[in-house]
Amino acid sequence: MANYEAVYPAGVPVPYKTILEANGHLIENPPEEHDALIATLSIHPFIMRPVTSPHQLRLYKGNWINQFFLRGALAMQQHFKSRPTDIFLASYPKSGTTWLKAMIFATMTRTSYPLDQHPLCTHNPHQCISSMEKEFSIGNSQIIEAIPSPRVMNTHLQYSVLPESITNPDCRIIYVWRDPKDVLVSEWYFVKKIYMDVDEKATFDQFYELFCQGVGPFGSIWNHVLGYWKESKLRPEKILFLKYKHILQEPVKYAKKLAHFVGCPYSKAEENQGVIEQIVELCSFKKLKELDVNKGGESVTNDVHISYADFFRKGEVGDWKNHMTTEMAERLDAITKEKFKGSGIEI
Ligand code: A3P
Repeated sequence: MANYEAVYPAGVPVPYKTILEANGHLIENPPEEHDALIATLSIHPFIMRPVTSPHQLRLYKGNWINQFFLRGALAMQQHFKSRPTDIFLASYPKSGTTWLKAMIFATMTRTSYPLDQHPLCTHNPHQCISSMEKEFSIGNSQIIEAIPSPRVMNTHLQYSVLPESITNPDCRIIYVWRDPKDVLVSEWYFVKKIYMDVDEKATFDQFYELFCQGVGPFGSIWNHVLGYWKESKLRPEKILFLKYKHILQEPVKYAKKLAHFVGCPYSKAEENQGVIEQIVELCSFKKLKELDVNKGGESVTNDVHISYADFFRKGEVGDWKNHMTTEMAERLDAITKEKFKGSGIEI
C-alpha cells in the first residue's frame, strides 16, 4: 500500500483521487462472474439508453437497476469486506450526495488543513470520496481495499441490495433523501446532459411517467428511502437519516449532527471560533460551484463523461414548480403519501 502519510495526515480520510493515482490509476478489469445471471434478468426499454448500451435496466429483487451498477453490486456482495471504522454515505441519485460527500470529508479533515487550502478547494467532492458500485463494476475493488482507515465511501444501491458486510451492526451509514419531485427534476437535467446524444425524443413527460413507475438506474425512489428509513428506526445509532431540505434550512445544526455521528464532534473552542460556520461555507453550493475544479473538470467511466459542473445546478428546494403542472405534482405527492403511509417518515 502506498504511504500517504508522507503527504496526508494519518487517521483522517485521504482524497480518493490520491489513492487512485498512487495505485496506478484505473485498472479497468470488469468482473464477469455474474454476467450470466444478469443476462437472465428482465430488461426495460428505458428511453434514455440505446438497446446495446451497457447501461440497460434489469429487474433485480423487485427494483430496476442499471446493469452496470448491478454488476458492481453483485461483486460487492461477494467480495467486499467492511471494517468497523467504515462510513457509508447512501442516497438515491440527485438527492444531495455531492453535498454530503463534501460535508463529511471537510468535517473529518478539518484540523488537517487550513480551510483556505483544503483539498475541497482543488478536488470535486466525488474525487474525495469513492462511489463503491462504480469501482466494483469496473473491477477496481482492490482500490477500495487500498483506502486507509477510516474509509468513507458512497453508494446509491437500495438497502436490500447492500452486501451483508455493510449492513452488519458495526458499520455506520448516513442517508440523505429529498422530495421526489425535486429529485425527478434534478435527475432529468443530469441524464439529459449526459445522454443528450442518445435519444433526443425523450421528453420530460416520458421521464416523469417512468419515475412514477419506479423505473430508473437505482429503482424506485420510494423503496429506496423506505429501505434505509426502516433500518434507521431499528438502529438509529448506526444509521443517520437526513433530509436535504432540513440541511439546507439549518446547515449549522446538521453540520454538528454529522460531526457527532462520525466521531469528530466540534469542541467548544471550535464552536466559539466559528469553525462550524466555516465548514458549512466551504461546502456550500455557492462556494463549490465557483471553484475552478467544479467549473472545468470531468470524470469518465465506461465512456460516460460527466462534467463536475453538472453536479451543481440550482441547489434549491422546490424547483419542481418550474417544471411540473399542478396535476403532475399532486400525482407524485399522492404516490409518496401512499408509499410512505404508516412508515412514520415526515414528508
Ligand atoms: P439540483 O439539480 O436541484 O440543483 P447529487 O449530488 O446527489 O447528484 O445531487 C445533486 C443535487 O444537489 C443538485 O440539485 C445540486 O445542485 C445539489 N447540490 C450539489 N451540491 C450542493 C451543495 N453544496 N449544497 C446544496 N445543494 C447541492
